[in-house]
Amino acid sequence: MRFVIDGMTIEAQAGDTILTACRRAGYYIPHLCFHGDLPAQGNCRLCLVESKGRLLPSCLTKVTDGMEVASATEQLHTLRLRLTQMLFVEGNHICPSCEASGNCMLQALGYRLGLLDNHYPQFFPRRPLDASHPQMILDFNRCIQCQLCVRASDQLDQKHAFVVAGRGGEAHITASSSNGQLGSTSFAATDHAAGICPVGVFLGKGVGYVTPIGERRYDRADIAQAGDRNA
Ligand code: FES
Repeated sequence: MRFVIDGMTIEAQAGDTILTACRRAGYYIPHLCFHGDLPAQGNCRLCLVESKGRLLPSCLTKVTDGMEVASATEQLHTLRLRLTQMLFVEGNHICPSCEASGNCMLQALGYRLGLLDNHYPQFFPRRPLDASHPQMILDFNRCIQCQLCVRASDQLDQKHAFVVAGRGGEAHITASSSNGQLGSTSFAATDHAAGICPVGVFLGKGVGYVTPIGERRYDRADIAQAGDRNA
């Protein structure tokens, strides 16, 4: 089975989505909430592509033989830029002081898209830190609600250590325990959930800045070449 994206023909296997086929072929489509070990959920919408005049999440859209898809268009670039700017303003992303700087997929996507300003007013939300766990701090100021930690803990670790609480604009990730604290769950720093965050929510205690700023994954190469930090 074959399809065409941005004029390039790509081979796909049965059951492939546009995103999985493109990833196998080394063709980059921006994404933040997708991970190859988990079913796609379509949360971030950064992977939108266009086919027959419709915008489709490439992580959820199955390839059909001969389909024609566009990803590298001006319209999609602007949409992705606006989505990324929304993610920046609705959290507190202070890149220069963040331990994940240079390893953060949101920051790397901002660079790739040429993000130079917020475009939208900054929300400055008040979000808690959770330092209750002996090995890990959670800084929810950086959470983009991709829900990868929730899904990884459920489906890869079988621990259900995280949950989405609240609804609509109040929705947020929290530890799934009676007091809402990570230290009261069975989470361990070696869990899949600990390493799957695309940004900088999960901070190991007792370590920091082991790799100097300037020598990190996305300091050295664009995200399209450097790949996912959580792969
Ligand atoms: Fe497809 Fe996030 S990667 S919606």
